[in-house]
Amino acid sequence: MLSRAFSKNVSVSRALLAQSFNRRLSTENGRKLEGKVALITGAASGIGRATAAKFISNGTKVVIADIQHQLGEETAKELGPDATFISCDVTKESDISHAVDFTISKHKQLDIMYNNAGVACKTPRSIVDLDLEVFDQVMRINVRGVVAGIKHSSRVMIPRRSGCILCTASVTGLMGGLAQHTYSTSKSAIIGIVKSMAAELCRHGIRINCISPFAIPTPFAMEEMSQIFPGVDAQRLMDMVHGTGVLEGAICEPIDIANAALYLASDDAKYVSGHNLVVDGGFTSFKNLNLSASDQL
Ligand SMILES: NC(=O)c1ccc[n+]([C@@H]2O[C@H](COP(=O)([O-])OP(=O)(O)OC[C@H]3O[C@@H](n4cnc5c(N)ncnc54)[C@H](O)[C@@H]3O)[C@@H](O)[C@H]2O)c1
Repeated sequence: MLSRAFSKNVSVSRALLAQSFNRRLSTENGRKLEGKVALITGAASGIGRATAAKFISNGTKVVIADIQHQLGEETAKELGPDATFISCDVTKESDISHAVDFTISKHKQLDIMYNNAGVACKTPRSIVDLDLEVFDQVMRINVRGVVAGIKHSSRVMIPRRSGCILCTASVTGLMGGLAQHTYSTSKSAIIGIVKSMAAELCRHGIRINCISPFAIPTPFAMEEMSQIFPGVDAQRLMDMVHGTGVLEGAICEPIDIANAALYLASDDAKYVSGHNLVVDGGFTSFKNLNLSASDQL
């Protein structure tokens, strides 16, 4: 009797295991975001654009929300019929609220919100010279804009009891000294915001994570570099950005962040929340003592 019950239990567990294995397989191949709808801020160029392309090739309809109207329209056209552009300044809560409502009215759902829009900071490096007006302006885009994105996407995700929110942080938010105080502070805040929001959103079945990219020569980084090194040609500046990496034989590119976003948005990361996925080739994991070799002493 006991053994029959036991063998029944074993076969039930086998069936359950097979079910979960098949579910896992279905996310391992092909289009990982089939039938999903995503809203991505700052997707007219760079990381946002690469992520929009990646999501579309994985079966997602994408709404690109960006302050650059013409470039946003061009990007949407290039990405094809699954991409739509909406003009949005993330510093205006009403713009973000409207972008979320637009996505719902066009596609009937919002599964993935990627708060990616951000700007570099053009203040002097010393705290003594910090321009607090510029500080407020950068915070309005890089921090307040992200919080507004989380607020309005949660508004529509909570009633559905599901959803995935992503944000772009940075390695400069993890370690001091890699950027101006204002920018570093803004990106550090994102990592904290994600943890704070995860505490509430997990109760509603919503996952929230951020990605911390290493330096990538997008328009954002190239503009900053050309201000620091005026007159130096673009190829040289790109080489300089790539030269700061530590992983031999590879460079950090928008596609690396798009792949991280795809992972976090897909069922492959179905139990990952409150996490900061660092994509830096190991840069922030170590420091070398750079001791001389004994034969050089
Ligand atoms: N490139 C890097 O080295 C790097 C490294 C770490 C983190 N990041 C972060 O990645 C994100 C994307 O930057 P990117 O490198 O792709 O640069 P990018 O300049 O190619 O893209 C940024 C996009 O944000 C948009 N944007 C700026 N202000 C906006 C606003 N107020 N409202 C709506 N959209 C606005 C821009 O129009 C642009 O399309 C940013 O948050 C940035 O801080 C970049």
